[in-house]
Amino acid sequence: MKKIVRVIPLLTGLAGVSALCASSLFAPLPQHVDFDKEKAMLGKKLYLDPKLSKDGTVACINCHVLQDGSGVDHLATSTGIKGQKGPVNAPTVYNAVYNFVQFWDGRAKDLQDQAGGPVENPLEMGDNFPDVSQKLKNDPQYVSAFEKVYGGKITKETITDAIAEFEKALVTPNSRFDQFLRGDKEALSKSEKEGFELFQSKGCVSCHNGVNLGGNLYQKAGVFEKFPQTDNFTGRYAVTGDEKDKYFVKVPTLRNISRTAPYFHHGKTPDLRTAVVQMGYYQLGISLSLDEADKIVAFLKTLEGEVPEIAK
Ligand code: HEC
Ligand code: HEC
Repeated sequence: MKKIVRVIPLLTGLAGVSALCASSLFAPLPQHVDFDKEKAMLGKKLYLDPKLSKDGTVACINCHVLQDGSGVDHLATSTGIKGQKGPVNAPTVYNAVYNFVQFWDGRAKDLQDQAGGPVENPLEMGDNFPDVSQKLKNDPQYVSAFEKVYGGKITKETITDAIAEFEKALVTPNSRFDQFLRGDKEALSKSEKEGFELFQSKGCVSCHNGVNLGGNLYQKAGVFEKFPQTDNFTGRYAVTGDEKDKYFVKVPTLRNISRTAPYFHHGKTPDLRTAVVQMGYYQLGISLSLDEADKIVAFLKTLEGEVPEIAK
């Protein structure tokens, strides 16, 4: 009974969806983003630099690869310093600036807040900011870059600010879906359009909407059936301690989703078609046919955007 009550607002939300114009539920990524070039270039240098880790072996880029347009490491769960395995799958850094909070459980309020996390996480980079700042102060290149951009201040605040500025530029515009939203009706093929219709009529859109097709609300993983959680993973509950937040996570973005396998916080779903079928089962209580799943996958592939120059 409880389950049904929870789902009603979801479904009443859905009833009107197909009647609505797609453009009110989705928005294309901006074709041009504003950022401070000098800060972002310093942020890029930091992003690529394993000096930010305790033993000098792990940089942000190890777990969030940029060149292939994925922003992830393609592992079920990430590997930090000394080969340590983390508990959850790495989400993409691409377009993360448009997420309303950061991390699966939303424990960081923005990118700058987030960037402090991995550096000090013992399973990831295992360092601390006083030590990292000291290492950077010993490097004349950093000294002059920080001098230019932050008047010489090399602190947690300036380090994370520069990284966040770089991440603001990690936006992948001009996907075929965005071209379609901007009015080019030929940008999607017939089966991709059918996939988009299914995405709306089956109810995916109730959680995956907005500019990132996700990233703008918390939802429970496992609305209709118990979702396979990784050990001790309770989602938003870990942050709030509120029973009703158990297994709620930030709904992930679907942008570039065809590039970011494996899927879900557990990283145990190897391919997109399986992920789509599982979403139908766990989140919507339906079984999608293989034909429907294939069409939705075809649609999701149109969310591949352009890799920005700064990421190359
Ligand atoms: C050892 C691998 C690893 C390293 C190194 C790492 N990350 Fe992550 N990153 C992850 C994992 C795993 C998560 C998800 C953790 C969670 O939600 O609890 C994550 C989450 C994020 C997110 C949040 C995305 C979202 O949608 O919630 C951003 C942004 C991010 N990392 C950027 C960075 C930056 C910047 C650095 C370098 C300072 C960095 N990461 C270093 C593995 C890593
Ligand atoms: C009730 C909300 C809800 C609905 C409806 C929903 N999703 Fe999701 N989706 C989520 C949440 C929450 C997650 C993250 C689950 C986790 O890993 O804990 C997710 C994850 C995903 C992922 C994996 C993302 C990643 O980075 O690993 C894909 C792909 C996906 N959804 C596609 C779909 C499709 C296609 C549909 C429709 C068939 C759909 N979703 C319906 C909430 C929803």
